[in-house]
Amino acid sequence: MSYLLGIDIGTSGTKTVLFDESGKAVYGVTSEYPLYQPRAGWAEQRPEDWWEAVKSSVSGVVSGSGVSADEIAGIGLSGQMHGLVMLDKNGEVLRPSIIWCDQRTSAECGLMNELVGKEKLIEITANPAMTGFTASKLLWVMRNEPEIYEKCAHVLLPKDYIRYKLTGEFAAEVSDGSGMQLMNVSERRWSTELISLLGLDAGMLAPLFESVEVTGGVSQKAAELTGLKAGTPVVGGAGDQAAGGVGNGIVTPGAVSATLGTSGVVFAHTENMTADPRGRVHTLCHAVPGCWHVMGVTQAAGLSLKWFRDNFCAPEKDAAGLMGVDPYVLMDREAENSAPGCGGLFYLPYLMGERTPHLDPDARGAFIGITARHTKNDMLRAVMEGVGYSMKDCLEIIRGMGVPVKEIRVSGGGGKSGLWRQMMADMFGRPVAVTESSEGPALGAAILAGAGTGVYSSVQEGCRVCVRPKTVQKCVRENAAVYKKAYPVYKKLYRSLKNDFAAIAKL
Ligand code: XUL
Repeated sequence: MSYLLGIDIGTSGTKTVLFDESGKAVYGVTSEYPLYQPRAGWAEQRPEDWWEAVKSSVSGVVSGSGVSADEIAGIGLSGQMHGLVMLDKNGEVLRPSIIWCDQRTSAECGLMNELVGKEKLIEITANPAMTGFTASKLLWVMRNEPEIYEKCAHVLLPKDYIRYKLTGEFAAEVSDGSGMQLMNVSERRWSTELISLLGLDAGMLAPLFESVEVTGGVSQKAAELTGLKAGTPVVGGAGDQAAGGVGNGIVTPGAVSATLGTSGVVFAHTENMTADPRGRVHTLCHAVPGCWHVMGVTQAAGLSLKWFRDNFCAPEKDAAGLMGVDPYVLMDREAENSAPGCGGLFYLPYLMGERTPHLDPDARGAFIGITARHTKNDMLRAVMEGVGYSMKDCLEIIRGMGVPVKEIRVSGGGGKSGLWRQMMADMFGRPVAVTESSEGPALGAAILAGAGTGVYSSVQEGCRVCVRPKTVQKCVRENAAVYKKAYPVYKKLYRSLKNDFAAIAKL
């Protein structure tokens, strides 16, 4: 029996999981780290923290799993996408990473449009200039911290920095690489044309691989630090969304996932490249060689509920501690006491600006429609419903692009909530399923490692072996009727408030 290791460098922590060949999780360890928000709309993390978390979680898995490091056939990396990691010529980190949800780069997005032209940018990168993507972050450093930019020799994404620490190799792969907005996405290569139009240096970028290709082996030094065997192959891996797609079996046409992590993502596999001309959803290379994916991203999905928990749910946290359960379990029960539609209370989940469908870094969160009858339970449910409507916005755009939607699989931390899954079934008007494994991106990364080291003949075969659908929740007709009436109101609220959000952002 071979084993496969999936390492997912997420936003709240790194999750390392060892799987057997059938996709069964044998042992997992998560190590957390902080997120720094030095100013409103800014979000940074320390790459050194990720490496510490990788070392401790990998060594925890190697020592705790009872599996010998010799039996690990391959390692797959998955990670939060778009984060900018800048290293000097000695491979030292130059500044904290500006991560995916940072919104400081509106001016640089304007500059990208000027330098390249809006249409050409979409033609090459399949996406409009995005504050969340890496290119605008790199331009921001070039313009605002020229002394750092001058020292920069390597630009990497979060998981590719970990690859460098694990193997000593500089390498990138196409699924995460296409979220840098420096690739020709249809041709699956860096766009030297675009890079030079932006005045950037292509020499800073690492060679590009497909997700299943082996990019190097664990170095002697990393082996000593982690307990892994030196030389264990590390494959390209994937950005967390593409890896999560693989972990949920979204590797054939018609398969769609709805993931409730910190952000919320609706993700669909496509065999041909299709882009939304308005850029409301992203088109990126998939981790399946020769395929692409489209995804709609709502910035603050799980983040909205976590924000509510951390600011308004101290009693639930205390009670959960005494009961030995997760506070979200108690919060779910409270939300269940409110009815679908929350008696006309709406929540707009734009705590970190918004990507899909508005592409508006100035958008703000809001509760609207509060009356004296509303309670905290209603507010809690409204947060979950607001995120659900935003996921529906993503799904509707994807459907409108002609991408087939046959089966929807829900995943992510928020997907553990039966209530949230039911809301999505009711809002989407179709059944939603969960898979047996809740390891999403870590499982996907491990499947990619298996496909790259000959354990499976392809990514699809790895998914057939490892990904098993479990519970299916059907749409409840009465609830669906409530949401059908409420959704157009939800959609109108952003339009009504858009100019006010812009004014608030200028205060
Ligand atoms: C995807 C995205 C997020 C991050 C963090 O475009 O920005 O999903 O990858 O999870």
